Order: sequence, then structure tokens, then C-alpha cells
Amino acid sequence: MDCVGVQSSGARTHTNGSLLCLSTQNDFSNYSILHTKPTVTDAESSRELVIKGGNVNFEKVCFAYDERRPLLGGISSVAEAGKTLAFVGKTGSGKSTILNLLHRYYDIKDGSITIDDQDIHGVTLSSLRANIGIVPQKPEMFHRSILENIRYARLNAKDEEIYEVCMAAAIHDRITTFPDGYNTKVGERGVRLSGGELQRIAIARVLLRSPKIVILDEATSAVDTATEAVIQESIEKLSSGRTTIVVAHRLSTIVRAHNIIVLDDGKIVEQGTHAELIIKKGKYAELWKQQTAIAKQDEGAADTSCDAVPARLAV
Ligand SMILES: Nc1ncnc2c1ncn2[C@@H]1O[C@H](COP(=O)(O)OP(=O)(O)O)[C@@H](O)[C@H]1O
Ligand SMILES: [Mg+2]
Repeated sequence: MDCVGVQSSGARTHTNGSLLCLSTQNDFSNYSILHTKPTVTDAESSRELVIKGGNVNFEKVCFAYDERRPLLGGISSVAEAGKTLAFVGKTGSGKSTILNLLHRYYDIKDGSITIDDQDIHGVTLSSLRANIGIVPQKPEMFHRSILENIRYARLNAKDEEIYEVCMAAAIHDRITTFPDGYNTKVGERGVRLSGGELQRIAIARVLLRSPKIVILDEATSAVDTATEAVIQESIEKLSSGRTTIVVAHRLSTIVRAHNIIVLDDGKIVEQGTHAELIIKKGKYAELWKQQTAIAKQDEGAADTSCDAVPARLAV
């Protein structure tokens, strides 16, 4: 379809005043980003989002950061309530952008995104974001204790609730190995957490908030087989009963997704389940083959079947 009137909403200078998009700050009081004028705002007539099942519908979504360079060329897809929709494709194909549009970091002009039949541009930003949990590609931590870093997802959470979500996210045992446990400071003078650990803390945060819709932009960094299995388990706990929209770098994490969209240059080139796409022998099957081969090289594994789960993958 033609993507006319595509809006460039602030590009890299865009801010939106959401706690979830804070960059690393040394102190909770230093919320400079909150004092900048948002470029995405509530419409005057906007209402509170009312979540029923959490059905997310992308309808002919067009977007460009710069009008001279269209990016998304009419993306249509549905993330059914409680199910998992995955986006895969090479770097720069527009995967993270789709997630950003759902969270309204940017506004689209053509097409629509609805949640339970409510256009996301007609609901308040606060109600939209309160119902969507994000596990970002690069989770940020404050220079505070691990406990405070997780509690910021729900300020009235009891310590026990935080331990519980950390257990579910498979990070509790790691935290308890630190001499100061949950009171360990994160950052320059505290503990440095690996990419996999940060991702699990981000999962714990979302579990604590328990939203109906979850967005997951997987970390690109390759992790070892054991860590991947642990992360996979916590992602499954997170997805259970929630609409999950995931950008997958490790295809092994989306083998069970209800629908997989393959993006290329901002367009859908294939979609289906893992099994359907393997049979199709198209771009997805090729990517799977490549990733399985990398895993095989790494591990010396003999299993090349479609059910084999690659260990180290990066799209
Ligand atoms: N904030 C931004 N401003 C301008 N261009 C951007 C911005 N974010 C991403 N882009 C560009 O948009 C394209 C798609 O980016 P992205 O959605 O992050 O791709 P992916 O997640 O598939 O790697 C890339 O060419 C990228 O450089
Ligand atoms: Mg990305």
C-alpha cells in the first residue's frame, strides 16, 4: 500500500516523559528527561484504555523517522489475546520501531494500532503504558540497590513479592550470592551485571507490574547455552497468560510463538508458525539454518532437526 502522510515524530530528539524510557541516571531525583516537553501527547478526547483480553491489532501501519525515507510500509498483523507474536528480520528492518509505535514513543499517521478495539491514539498515554510491560534490548539500572531497582516497577511492592518475581525470572539465586544480596548497589561502585542478568532483572520488573501486554526486545548479545535456557524459562513465565510481542534475535526463543513475522526493509515477507515457515523454505528457514549451523559449530552438536535449539544466535 502507499504510505502517504507518514509522520516523522521528533526522531532521535523525541522524549515522552515515561519512567520506562529513562536513560541511566545516578540518582532517582535526577529525572531531567521528565522535565522536557513530550512530543507524543494525549489527545483532548482521549479515554482510559480498558483491557479485556489484550488483543493487539496492527492495521496497515506506515511509519518513517524521516519523511524522505519511509521505513514501515503497511504492516498488518494481530497479536491475539494471551498469545505470542514474534518479529524477526535483519538489523534495521524496523522490528524495534514497531514495538516503539505500540508503546507510542512515536505516532503513526497511516494505518492504526488498536488494543481490544481501542485505537492507541485515542487512549491516554498513562493508561496505555500502564498496561504494557517492556523488557528492553538494553535494560537500564539506577545507581541504587537491586531491590530499589526492581521495586520501581511497583513502588508499594513488599520485599517478599520482589523475591518471588526474581525467583520466577531466575535471578534470585544470583542476587543472593552477592555479599550484600538485594541491597547490593548497581553501577560504578557496585556490582556490574551481565547482559543476561540485566535482562532477567527487567523480566522481574515486568512480572512485578504484571501487565496484560508484554513487549520484549531481546538482547543481541550471544549468551551461553545454560544462560539461554534460564532466560528462555523466565520468558515463558512472563508470556504465560499475557499477549506477548517479541523481537527475536535468538530464533530458539520463538519456536513456540503463535505467529512469526519476517520483516525485510519494513515489509512483511513471510509469516506463520515456526513449523510452517520451516516447511516454506524461505527467508526464515534460511535464517534458522544459519543459526543452527553456528550453534553446531559452537557446540559440536549433531542434531540438525527443526526441533534442535541453536545455542548462540544473533540476527
Ligand atoms: N530514533 C530514530 N531516529 C531515526 N532513525 C531511526 C531511529 N531509530 C531507528 N532508526 C532507523 O530506522 C531503521 C529501523 O530501525 P529499528 O526499528 O531499530 O530496526 P531493527 O530493530 O529491526 O534492527 C534503521 O535504519 C535505524 O537506523
Ligand atoms: Mg532492534
